[in-house]
Amino acid sequence: MALLPILRFPDPRLQRRAHSVAEIDDSIRKLVADMAETMYAAPGIGLAAVQVDVPLRVIVIDVSEDKSELRVFIDPDIVERSGEQVCEEGCLSVPGVYEKVTRAERVRVRARDLSGEPFELAADGLLAVCIQHEIDHLDGVVFVEHLSRLKQTRIRSRLKKQARITA
Ligand code: NI
Repeated sequence: MALLPILRFPDPRLQRRAHSVAEIDDSIRKLVADMAETMYAAPGIGLAAVQVDVPLRVIVIDVSEDKSELRVFIDPDIVERSGEQVCEEGCLSVPGVYEKVTRAERVRVRARDLSGEPFELAADGLLAVCIQHEIDHLDGVVFVEHLSRLKQTRIRSRLKKQARITA
């Protein structure tokens, strides 16, 4: 396994739309293992392949306290959404930024697991937020793009300043 570098907003590669996974082979299994290791090390509760510069529809999520519930979603689709919740979100690609985003309270997601088996999952609360946040990444959307233009401008200039300081 290996830690993968995470792209930082506003890297244009985060805006690409990811492709479906044709076949779940060893390269996909290695990608998922590396993504899980990278997410846990960060630490984070979710990571999309797009964030590690692999434009495929692959997501890993673990919202458990003790990092014991790794969930893998391949080619996920939200087939039902209902209700509304506001949650403060962060993102490994937007370090240090936490902002409130309005999302569906409940979602039903359809995906394949690592063995290629299709499954459906009903989620609410934090898991539902995380699923929506990560599927956004697969469509080239970073969570700050749900915020007002003014907030986005502030975040962009703050991140540019940070990049200069750490460069
Ligand atoms: Ni994110």
